[in-house]
Amino acid sequence: MEGPYRDLGSGFARLTGQEGARRGPSRITHVEDALLELLRNARDAGASQIFVASTLAARRFRALTVIDDGRGIPEPYAGLVFEPGVTTRHLNPVPDPTAPTGSHHGAGLALYHLKQASVSAEVLSPSSPTAIRATFDTRTLPERHLQSASRPSRSNLLATAESFARSQKQPHPPRLYHGSPARILAALLRNRIIQSSSGSGGLRREAGRVGLYLSGRTVQRVMRGQVAAAEPVGSGGLRAGSGPAPRRRGAGGGGAVLPVGEEEKAEIAAILGRAARAGYVEVDDLKVESRPGEILLKARVYEPEEEYE
Ligand SMILES: Nc1ncnc2c1ncn2[C@@H]1O[C@H](COP(=O)(O)OP(=O)(O)OP(=O)(O)O)[C@@H](O)[C@H]1O
Ligand SMILES: [Mg+2]
Repeated sequence: MEGPYRDLGSGFARLTGQEGARRGPSRITHVEDALLELLRNARDAGASQIFVASTLAARRFRALTVIDDGRGIPEPYAGLVFEPGVTTRHLNPVPDPTAPTGSHHGAGLALYHLKQASVSAEVLSPSSPTAIRATFDTRTLPERHLQSASRPSRSNLLATAESFARSQKQPHPPRLYHGSPARILAALLRNRIIQSSSGSGGLRREAGRVGLYLSGRTVQRVMRGQVAAAEPVGSGGLRAGSGPAPRRRGAGGGGAVLPVGEEEKAEIAAILGRAARAGYVEVDDLKVESRPGEILLKARVYEPEEEYE
């Protein structure tokens, strides 16, 4: 690593001569850039699993909680990592083929710029697991627009996580999970990153400790197994209710026809909506098709952007 640095102990250093870079343009111009830096740091800490919980409040404030099972940050340094030039990469710079050309990976500036661009950013848990939470005002730090208007469930944050996962070329790349806080809590339990030992009150505190702020009711639902755990991104994991509808032909095109009016359709939509919300997904575009001998219901199921808490 070029440039002089001051040894801070435990492998940490503060790179000096960072004035230029510090005042230079930030790498973080969109929320997705911040997510990418958090993912890189977790990967560089040797994480085998990385969990990203995302919420959007008031259609404006994006909160990202990134939890990883890597080596963690030694306690006394947790408050320093947002300062410019503070890094552990000065002795062993991490080669990063995925970094955009011209970026200074290993300069200890990513979290500094991230914090500058955020409403708040903090290390909630320095290790076992490591949890970093940052909130952004999307009016000042925008999110990139969706690439595909036909797939509104694919937020760009998920697409960012997917492309990060795909770009990892090491033999054992970290497994990456993305979802609502409830689905991430379910995944943390399933993967034994946190344990549900002392009832729902204890689990709620555990979840809060790693930046997953959930109601007591939601935590109980997670404990009862009523919330589908987030699946690793890129695994093609099924979301609740997204299985293909069974295709069975009506009896030779014959049979009775059941007409469904707007009122009944609204009731069906309400029932599906309740079922979906219980699993932290949403349903819309309900189509009801009455055919001789059968009735077909089809609806779009997707993960919501807006949090429920
Ligand atoms: N998830 C994490 N687990 C363990 N240590 C971390 C984690 N995130 C950050 N750190 C520590 O914080 C330091 C600062 O992180 P930051 O992203 O600001 O700079 P960097 O990764 O060193 O270099 P770059 O500017 O290229 O990102 C890292 O060097 C690392 O020691
Ligand atoms: Mg970094």
